Amino acid sequence: MRPEERIFVALDTPERERALDLAARLAGKVGGFKVGLEAFVALGPSIVHDIAASGLPVFLDLKLHDIPNTVAGAAASASRLGASFLTVHALGGVEMMRRAVEAFPSASILAVTILTSHDDESLRRLGIAGPPGDAVVVPGIRPAGSAENDQARIATPAAAVRAGADRLVIGRPITQAADPAAAAEEIAREIARG
Ligand code: C5P
Repeated sequence: MRPEERIFVALDTPERERALDLAARLAGKVGGFKVGLEAFVALGPSIVHDIAASGLPVFLDLKLHDIPNTVAGAAASASRLGASFLTVHALGGVEMMRRAVEAFPSASILAVTILTSHDDESLRRLGIAGPPGDAVVVPGIRPAGSAENDQARIATPAAAVRAGADRLVIGRPITQAADPAAAAEEIAREIARG
């Protein structure tokens, strides 16, 4: 896999024009785009079709978490939108995850374990014992020197690839950069060097 193909850019915006502009600027420089709750709730399912028109795979990050029948229905609805990846919360349980896979067999169903905004203390308050590292492996991605924002557990792109990540979801370090395409290219170079 070429380094840039590993980069999935989180188009976390409620503005259709901004999402489409970012997709147009970044097409050819990254491996795909993530449509998450902010864009999906604001813009509706059509944003998935519109971003898929860039020709790159769409990672639909809805982090579904409900009873198995409800998640199966949502996954079946998502299967009609043209996404290649769909997220669910692993805390929904094995049966819920199995029903999501059955309902959307053409996609890769990814299970989120513990959100990367959690640290030991925030998990303890929820009654979940042990540090997040015991339950998760996937960090938030931040190139060296960039702002952490609300990510409590981070790794650089190169470190994440060395640790076995095949695709990296990266949002603000690219989307908030003065030149998003240049930021994506620099991250691809960092992955290649690492
Ligand atoms: O802007 P930032 O790079 O923090 O955005 C990361 C995006 O990827 C968010 O949309 C978030 O839902 C998602 N994500 C994450 N941490 C992971 C994997 C995905 O924050 N470990």
